[in-house]
Amino acid sequence: MTDAATAAVELFEQVYGGPPAGVWQSPGRVNLIGEHTDYNDGLVLPIALPQRTFAAVRPRTDRRLRLASSGQTGQTEVELDQIAPGHPADWARYPAGVLWALARAGHITPGLDVAIASDVPIGAGLSSSAALEGAVGAALSDLAGLGLLADDEGRRQLAELCQQAENEIALAPTGGMDQAASLRSRAGHALYLDCADGSVSHVPFDLTAAGMVLLVVDTGATHALGDGQYGSRRADCEQAASQLGLHSLRALDPAELEHALGDLSHQRLRQRTRHVVTEIERVRQAVAALERSDLVGLGRLFTASHLSLRDDYEVSAPELDTVVDTALAGGALGARMTGGGFGGSAIVLTPTEAVAELRQAIDQAFLQAGHASRPTFFEAVAAGPGGPA
Ligand code: GLA
Repeated sequence: MTDAATAAVELFEQVYGGPPAGVWQSPGRVNLIGEHTDYNDGLVLPIALPQRTFAAVRPRTDRRLRLASSGQTGQTEVELDQIAPGHPADWARYPAGVLWALARAGHITPGLDVAIASDVPIGAGLSSSAALEGAVGAALSDLAGLGLLADDEGRRQLAELCQQAENEIALAPTGGMDQAASLRSRAGHALYLDCADGSVSHVPFDLTAAGMVLLVVDTGATHALGDGQYGSRRADCEQAASQLGLHSLRALDPAELEHALGDLSHQRLRQRTRHVVTEIERVRQAVAALERSDLVGLGRLFTASHLSLRDDYEVSAPELDTVVDTALAGGALGARMTGGGFGGSAIVLTPTEAVAELRQAIDQAFLQAGHASRPTFFEAVAAGPGGPA
């Protein structure tokens, strides 16, 4: 067992006495490309990370949920019938929300004792909340005999329920990319997800043979989806689609983009629309680049995505721009912010031999720019999905 899995079991025994019925896990993710497209019925291309969240779980005979986490002191307790939008508070709303969503879907779910431990960095834009939802969802699927982990259709349903937990109980108006990445990915592959119909295909993603690395840089800058910016971007997109008479921006043909921009009422809406439509196109091109092992092309698409997110979608942050500018100046093939933005992490596609120097340069650039946080680094590989630990 990994350290975090052992920590979950030890915490369980310490808090509840006796062993858990089992341990389940689900990973964090980085998105390669396709940012702020999921809630526009668009395309995304994330990978699941080796870092994951573990849930040691035992069913209860009553309708109570008890939660403990190695990162927090104290426990949370809630009656299943009292789970509601915004309740319970803080991190407990994610696992509670999964129970709620499963029950609403008509599944009979038991009360639970749960102990959580995780090595997914929190607040880094690497989907620690989806990892938590996925681990608890996987546990419930097995303990309630739902069989949702057995095939991709079941996993699609479970990912959707986890997204409902996030939207309706945790009150974060996110799309479905993170939960799908956590529960439907395949080791060694990127998950090519079409958010219009939930269909997936798996694109081989292994940079080692090419002597390349996907370096993840956690800027340490605050990342909070709840501060309204995420929701306001989403509202912009909905307004733009409605002005164009479309169900979503996905329905806008890239060939029609320039013409459609002229029909929008505000410059802000034109920028948001241009980002979404060009970003969806970049995902298609990125998949094609990967399929022909064109990492130079993939790198260019990363950088174009960043510029579009920075200038048109306005979700970057000075720390993210520092990473991208420094990486490109240091010979990276491409770099971009990943996840929701406003802080969190960036990814850098770089030759392996340049990694040490790049890390130093980025560290140095943070100091020079006077950023309050220090960056941390790891090399990402595409790992497997959530399930029994
Ligand atoms: C967050 C959300 C996702 C997605 C990304 C941006 O990670 O949880 O649904 O919208 O931002 O691509």
